[in-house]
Amino acid sequence: MNKKSIKDVNVAGKKCLVRVDFNVPMKNGVITDETRINGALPTIKYLIEQGAKVILCSHMGKPHNIFTKGFGLTKKEKKAVEALPIEEQAKAKEEFLQKALKDKEKFTLKPVAIKLAEKLGQEVKFAEDVVGPCADELVANIKDGEVILLENTRFEQGEEKRDEALCKKLASYCEVYVNDAFGTAHRSHATTAAIAEYGFVKEAVCGFLIEKELSVMADSLENPVRPFVAILGGAKVADKLKVISNLLEKCDTLIIGGGMAYTFLKAQGYEVGTSLVDTEQIEYCKDMMAKAKELGKNFYLPVDAVIAKEFPNPIDAEVETEVCSVENIPADKMGLDIGPKTIELYADAVKSAKTVIWNGPMGVFENPCFANGTISVAKALAETTATTIIGGGDSAAAVTTFGLADKMTHISTGGGASLELFEGKKLPGIECLNDK
Ligand code: 3PG
Repeated sequence: MNKKSIKDVNVAGKKCLVRVDFNVPMKNGVITDETRINGALPTIKYLIEQGAKVILCSHMGKPHNIFTKGFGLTKKEKKAVEALPIEEQAKAKEEFLQKALKDKEKFTLKPVAIKLAEKLGQEVKFAEDVVGPCADELVANIKDGEVILLENTRFEQGEEKRDEALCKKLASYCEVYVNDAFGTAHRSHATTAAIAEYGFVKEAVCGFLIEKELSVMADSLENPVRPFVAILGGAKVADKLKVISNLLEKCDTLIIGGGMAYTFLKAQGYEVGTSLVDTEQIEYCKDMMAKAKELGKNFYLPVDAVIAKEFPNPIDAEVETEVCSVENIPADKMGLDIGPKTIELYADAVKSAKTVIWNGPMGVFENPCFANGTISVAKALAETTATTIIGGGDSAAAVTTFGLADKMTHISTGGGASLELFEGKKLPGIECLNDK
């Protein structure tokens, strides 16, 4: 990578604004997966050791747009309020606003500051705003080696709008801007890209996490040790259009699983019952299968499926299942996982691989009735000697849930970001940084 990293600049005694991705999953205020915090530690520790003044910032979730748009109600809520008799409107509006305020508690980064302090073994001062008086004061008084975490950047209206004033204000907090938020490198927001693009900071460099993610994933895509197998799953074909096309050009074998397999099967002429089919993408699927043939690539689709009468509701509800071949899916049933023959076929394809990338589960893995396909693919990857790259999101969560994380070469901290990398797209969070 030809972008400058923190090793290329002098950070000693300097204020460094570090964009991290602390968008961690939380349940009742408790962090349920610390991977992203752990991923940022090498950069934070290095900066502390160098005597930098570390000012961290991140978004968390998608808070209600009372914060992001600066307007009380969403369009949908406003419509709902207006549909009510006039005397009921004020109460309904208040209820929506109360719900929005709860978001502020739900999406605060405060629990992350506490967790980070534990991990670093030193105090992490938490600013209860992003660019307000609290942040101003903490930043003005920060000393070498100290760490501050600013509040959720998405509480600022200007974050997603790439607001210049917000970028300028944040730039005034620092001498060096460090982007180490690989998970948001595909977002072009104020703190992820615009602050550097506008030229408000003299030094804009990447941290170790971005460096590592790119060196493993971009290198494997550009110069894979072959055979190179790509496994794609997930519910919708439409989410993976460019990635399928791009990976077909680069890999030797493309394996398709998950809900999106049924659109391909339909394109092949199978009747797939009530399985998820995106009729608008059938032509695309035909094109991709033709492309695979033309390029001489192996293209695998499920040969059997675990089927049920309906989608489980709630998602982990126990349901009656059966296994059938893809030629025999009954008209009133849907495929929700790959079947045992498909598992065997896919595990076999992975065995001889030297590089494997995987994005997207093979079925509704949140439900034990439909988790076997995803577990088996994860196990097959754990057993191979190939370089195994898990492209964030659901597949990363699955590998972690199944206790196989330490068997993988690399698990990306960015679902959307790694997907865009697999699509061959340039990431704004990387592009904005200074060249070496
Ligand atoms: C992620 O979780 O993929 C990143 O943190 C980006 O979050 P976003 O999809 O809310 O922008």
